[in-house]
Amino acid sequence: MRSAAMRKADQILRAVAAKEVTLTLIGESGSGKEVLARRAHEISERRKGPFIPINCAAIPEALFESELFGHERGAFTGANARGHGKVEAAEKGTLFLDEIGELPMPMQAKLLRFLENRRYMRVGGAMKIEADIRLMFATLRPLEPEVKAGRFRGDLFYRIQGVTLNVPPLRERRVDIAPLLNQFISQLAGKHGVRPPKFSRQAKALLLRYDWPGNVRELRNVVETLCLLRDGRQARVADLPESVRSQAVESGKQMDSVSSSKTTMSLDLDAGLESLIQQIVEAALDREDGNTIKTAARLRISPRTVQRYVATGRVRSPPRSNR
Ligand SMILES: Nc1ncnc2c1ncn2[C@@H]1O[C@H](COP(=O)(O)OP(=O)(O)O)[C@@H](O)[C@H]1O
Ligand SMILES: [Mg+2]
Repeated sequence: MRSAAMRKADQILRAVAAKEVTLTLIGESGSGKEVLARRAHEISERRKGPFIPINCAAIPEALFESELFGHERGAFTGANARGHGKVEAAEKGTLFLDEIGELPMPMQAKLLRFLENRRYMRVGGAMKIEADIRLMFATLRPLEPEVKAGRFRGDLFYRIQGVTLNVPPLRERRVDIAPLLNQFISQLAGKHGVRPPKFSRQAKALLLRYDWPGNVRELRNVVETLCLLRDGRQARVADLPESVRSQAVESGKQMDSVSSSKTTMSLDLDAGLESLIQQIVEAALDREDGNTIKTAARLRISPRTVQRYVATGRVRSPPRSNR
């Protein structure tokens, strides 16, 4: 991918994938943590073994132990047969514990015990079983504050601390949007046997400047829907999901330049201009280290205009700014 952040992530990944270090990926939902974990697995010594994901936020607490470690027949009501746990399924491969920060406290204790000697017992079992697996973790939020807040065990945190990889949200690495868009268009049109949609200039501009709160997953879903609905015909602004279009309307309103009676077409032209202005102001702010006075002088506009852009969050000013 194009962004410096993702190229760096890839570098770290390559450097550590072959080692047996524990990998923890931090990033918003849909940002691509599981994709990266899989890639790390696929270039590791364990690539011939399985890659088993388990989402800690999605499993009811009462079922967790059996989900992870399996159970013997008759271990609990309804356990009519022996059940394999994910740890067993991941033997000689990688177990990917997603949303580890959501693991209930009692399970944190059990996971810690397992990690200390890599041995576990099935629920209702008496035999210690040794596991040969590599662990990777993902979390939406950094875990240190969770430890401080008493929601995550400190000893478990230190035990799983290995190499940490930050996966930035898509809106913080906009240069990745276009290549992902193109990749998904051909990939998903192929998957569904349809002709790839062609995007109108305005539609494409909106996709490039949208904030993508659902990150790469949301982008993929939008492209998939358009592939199916347009089947080779042009995808225009009107064909984009409401979420994408309404964000454009909002920033248009901030500019005070769009009356509600205007057509979608002129509205999108305004949105394109707004986006261009934002980029210019942001780049200038970056050069001037966040100093709004110097930025205004550079752009020959009033400092108030620059300050308004910053105050309304339409441009990001660089960190360590001295405004
Ligand atoms: N670099 C990427 N290339 C292609 N598809 C990606 C990439 N990153 C994420 N995706 C897609 O986006 C969706 C969400 O990715 P995922 O790894 O599950 O995110 P997370 O684990 O952070 O929630 C998946 O459909 C995945 O295929
Ligand atoms: Mg995920």
